[in-house]
Amino acid sequence: MKFNPLKEKGLPLEKQLRTWHDIAHRKYNKTKVDCYTRTRQILMNGIEVEAWNFKHNFARNTDDVETLEFLARTKRIEDAQQTTINWLAPCDQSVLETTLGYEQVAVDLTAWMAQNEPDDYVKETFDFGLLEDFDHLYRYAQWAYMVHGIEPDCIVQGQTDVILGRPTQNHHNCNVIRLRKPYDKSKASPQTKVNILTLVAGEQQTHNYYGEHGFEYGSELLRETYAEIKDVEEEHVTMYESLIDPTESWYEKLLLHEFTEVCTYHNCYEDEQDEMLKPIWEEFLAIELEHLKISAELFKKHEGRDPEEVIGDSVVHPCHFESQKKYVAKVLDEEIDKRLGTDKDYLYVKELPADWASYNVQETVGEDGSPSEVTIRVINEQKNHDIVSASDEMIESIPDMMKKATQKRGMTFDTFTPDEYEQMVRDDED
Ligand SMILES: [Fe+2]
Ligand SMILES: [Fe+2]
Ligand SMILES: [Fe+2]
Ligand SMILES: [Fe+2]
Repeated sequence: MKFNPLKEKGLPLEKQLRTWHDIAHRKYNKTKVDCYTRTRQILMNGIEVEAWNFKHNFARNTDDVETLEFLARTKRIEDAQQTTINWLAPCDQSVLETTLGYEQVAVDLTAWMAQNEPDDYVKETFDFGLLEDFDHLYRYAQWAYMVHGIEPDCIVQGQTDVILGRPTQNHHNCNVIRLRKPYDKSKASPQTKVNILTLVAGEQQTHNYYGEHGFEYGSELLRETYAEIKDVEEEHVTMYESLIDPTESWYEKLLLHEFTEVCTYHNCYEDEQDEMLKPIWEEFLAIELEHLKISAELFKKHEGRDPEEVIGDSVVHPCHFESQKKYVAKVLDEEIDKRLGTDKDYLYVKELPADWASYNVQETVGEDGSPSEVTIRVINEQKNHDIVSASDEMIESIPDMMKKATQKRGMTFDTFTPDEYEQMVRDDED
């Protein structure tokens, strides 16, 4: 049945205040929770952080009293939702375990969106970013083993492959060429708008999480690995947010933020099997329906337009989680050697011009080496092989893929080479 959020009944604003107990008491069991319940929890935390942050920015840019009062009331509600969701993570879930969860979100969410994205250029951008987070998952999996002794499947539960992707050292770009072409707000579908906003929120929170927690381990090399990957997440925020039409007004953006919250909660509610989380998604959906209704009224009043022009007349589903191994393997096979072009396009390694803007960045940040490369050296020292979770066929294809992905310039002196990788796999078989 069609779910038109503008016609559904929400929870009145005066009923949205909750008690401290209700806000903070729930937490899941890290060994029993389904991995996709955890990914929903991680993603929805990012959605609420963005909702709260956006409203503060809007409030600093308007003098309309009615708007300021709506923002003041609901910022606090968004904030309490964020507390409930983020604090569902139990205190015995380590930073690295949570980190594996963040990268699983990025991989499986982006893969789902890419296959449901009507705009080909946006889809191409999703596929491009996907392979980078896929490699982050692999690098962090080495650390989760070295520090906590856990296999990545303790977190990803066999739903997401863990193996080398486009190498992290090649994710560092000139941030100017990270900028992509924005969609046209008058032509883009609500699915495209919601997909992008959802992904921006997720990437931004991933960046923030690494920034807030990457220093909490004693290892110098792990600290530098977090710094290296955090910087890539910064690039991801820059890349995905640049897909948004910059001429959308504040009221249009407000409408899209509330609509994205409605769509993501609706999606979570429909998919959730966990008895503790399902009622949370249901209640928060009701909260967001009311936010959306009031935002739609403000939009009509200030823009004189019909909200349906922006968000359509039904929810879209941006965040369905299921195993995407087949799709990701295909993108990896076809695009490991893809790079950002200088014309907001994409190029393959062999097509890169001698003056490619990212070479300079890569050579500068990688002058002392790449922590994510040394990570493989260290795990190989310790165990004679890296930590992976993938089919034998995929593992055997990695050295050839690495050769294909190797750039002429911009590789650090401590790069773990395709030959060394091949040797490591062979040694392990002996
Ligand atoms: Fe919210
Ligand atoms: Fe990532
Ligand atoms: Fe990312
Ligand atoms: Fe909201």
